[in-house]
Amino acid sequence: MFKWASFFSKNEIEKDIISPNKRVRCHFSLRSGHISYAVFRDEKPIIKSSKLGFLIYGEEPLKENLKLIREQNKKVDETFETLWGEDRFINNKYTEAAFYITESKGSRRIFTVRFRIFNDGVAFRYEIPPQPKFQRITIKDELTEFNLDLNSTAWQIPAYQPDRYEYNYKKCSVYDLEKSVHTPLTIKTPNGCYLSLHEAALYNYGSMTIKLAEDKALKTDITPLSDGTKAHLLLPFQTPWRLIMLADSAIELTTNRIMLALNEPPRYDFSWVKTLKFLGIWWAMYVGEWTWAPGSRHGATTEHAKEYIDAAVRLGIAGLLIEGWNEGWGGDWLKNGINNNFTTPAPDFNLEEVARYANANNIELIGHHETVGFVDNYEKQIESAYNLYAANGIHYIKSGYAGSMMLINGRKEYHHSQLGVNHYQRTVELAAKKHICLDIHEPIKGTGIERTWPNLLSREGARGQEYEGGALSPSHACYLPYTRLLSGGMDYTSGIFDIDNAVKRLATTLARQLAYFVTIYSGMQMAADRPYYYEEKHRDVFKFIYDVPTNFEKTIPLAGEIGEYYIVARKDRDSSDWYIGGVTDENARRVNINLDFLEHGTYVAEIYMDTDEAHYRDNPFSITITEKHIGKNETLDLFMAPGGGFAIRLRQL
Ligand code: NOJ
Repeated sequence: MFKWASFFSKNEIEKDIISPNKRVRCHFSLRSGHISYAVFRDEKPIIKSSKLGFLIYGEEPLKENLKLIREQNKKVDETFETLWGEDRFINNKYTEAAFYITESKGSRRIFTVRFRIFNDGVAFRYEIPPQPKFQRITIKDELTEFNLDLNSTAWQIPAYQPDRYEYNYKKCSVYDLEKSVHTPLTIKTPNGCYLSLHEAALYNYGSMTIKLAEDKALKTDITPLSDGTKAHLLLPFQTPWRLIMLADSAIELTTNRIMLALNEPPRYDFSWVKTLKFLGIWWAMYVGEWTWAPGSRHGATTEHAKEYIDAAVRLGIAGLLIEGWNEGWGGDWLKNGINNNFTTPAPDFNLEEVARYANANNIELIGHHETVGFVDNYEKQIESAYNLYAANGIHYIKSGYAGSMMLINGRKEYHHSQLGVNHYQRTVELAAKKHICLDIHEPIKGTGIERTWPNLLSREGARGQEYEGGALSPSHACYLPYTRLLSGGMDYTSGIFDIDNAVKRLATTLARQLAYFVTIYSGMQMAADRPYYYEEKHRDVFKFIYDVPTNFEKTIPLAGEIGEYYIVARKDRDSSDWYIGGVTDENARRVNINLDFLEHGTYVAEIYMDTDEAHYRDNPFSITITEKHIGKNETLDLFMAPGGGFAIRLRQL
């Protein structure tokens, strides 16, 4: 029979796809039936020839005897507006080439590899349409490689660990990568290019980790299911985008927005979504004053909730999180979480009464669902649990998956497996239907789906301040902007002023706690300490937390190096204010910041900064709060003490 596909197909092709600014060249090649790609920046090799393809259960591998049916090219240059985030407008500008491929023998399956080459990165994905004998498939392995110079430096956290993403970043050479590591995986090549390997639009598939294969190629390692497979798929299916962000410097990498651009715009009206700051019945549990479980020191009582609502009103903070409000926290909550009940409040907590009080005082409650990873238990209750909150006018939920594995369909699964990914997605979509915003702790990493689902306001997904008291060093928050935060905002639980607490001693200065509100973006930003510390101990310092917005017009990275320091400026989306935050590692730093990004006119700079004597270890509270008039093209001389930082509000006169 005559086949159009084989009539037009080509057996060998070599094709360059060039970025709009011509600095990035992706080379796609089909040779001897195999496909591969390579990436160059300014003609310097970044990714050497790297294989593409799949192993599929019960089928021939999808990687050989390939030929091209057709190629399609286009150029896109558009700007989209975000509902909230670090930048209001994002430019989506790329050169696209889609290669439609078939097998030249056997079952002649077809698939597409679609590339998008941006000025600051490369993305590609596989698209597999349904075919007569190829409709339900099980992925055994994805063969995508990122063949980098092994002498490159990587900043990484390990995958498949009990604490999910909550590890300290380690620097090593790519050659020394021993186990699979999470993305974003940030790397510096010997020829001076900064890059981060990540993925965008992760749906219905295992999360991509990266490992050094035996043949020394850096390769995808898709998080498996408990049956050892990587994903069960009903075609059509498109993989998440495999994303290589590129930059000339570490600081430039921090505002790479390709991940968001690769996601779809929202399909529904999300104008009801609002970013916010919130207090919490929370840190009192961490420092041992209150408990999650009922008893004489129970935190989530009706009385405490009303007191915190009153405090939120006085402090001008819009929301209040209440943890430990429901049944299930007794005993060892990590073990007993299988019994958590998300519709029955603890005996001393009256949900309706607290919700009425919050509504009357114009305070948004943030509900709490700690599943401990017992997804089966949660799925049974989720609809009624969301309905209960919605019926009480509650529009925000912080969820948690603190177990080391998930329990799904009676089996232990990785949080980051296809089943985990699908569960998280179900919560996001159900919440959207009920007009509820989410802040997911122990989440699946961000892949930009908040562009499509803007009700996913924040995530944890890295060590946050709950690890203070020994397990956080000042350098941690200096790694995050170059690694974890490339995958989106984070609920770091900032703003803890009780630094020298005997139970939880923080490795920070006071000024640095303010800096986090600028350096670590979150659509839901927690002022995590108890109200007493804001109202009575450090009222003047708290003013910055009151002022700083949670939604920005634009973000300008100013200076920094991975794991050493980070300084960023952000313009408020609703006023002409600018905010600058800086954090440093164990080393003190003097920096000179040029304000050429400001508009013309005079600004009042309200500067919260470590004194020369401040030190995170023995003098953390030593802060200066000063004001000065300043304008565009002037500079600010700033100081960060060891483990310190600064926060600045620039108010236009
Ligand atoms: C871990 C979360 O990160 C933390 O914020 C929460 O308080 C506990 N789980 C309990 O749910």
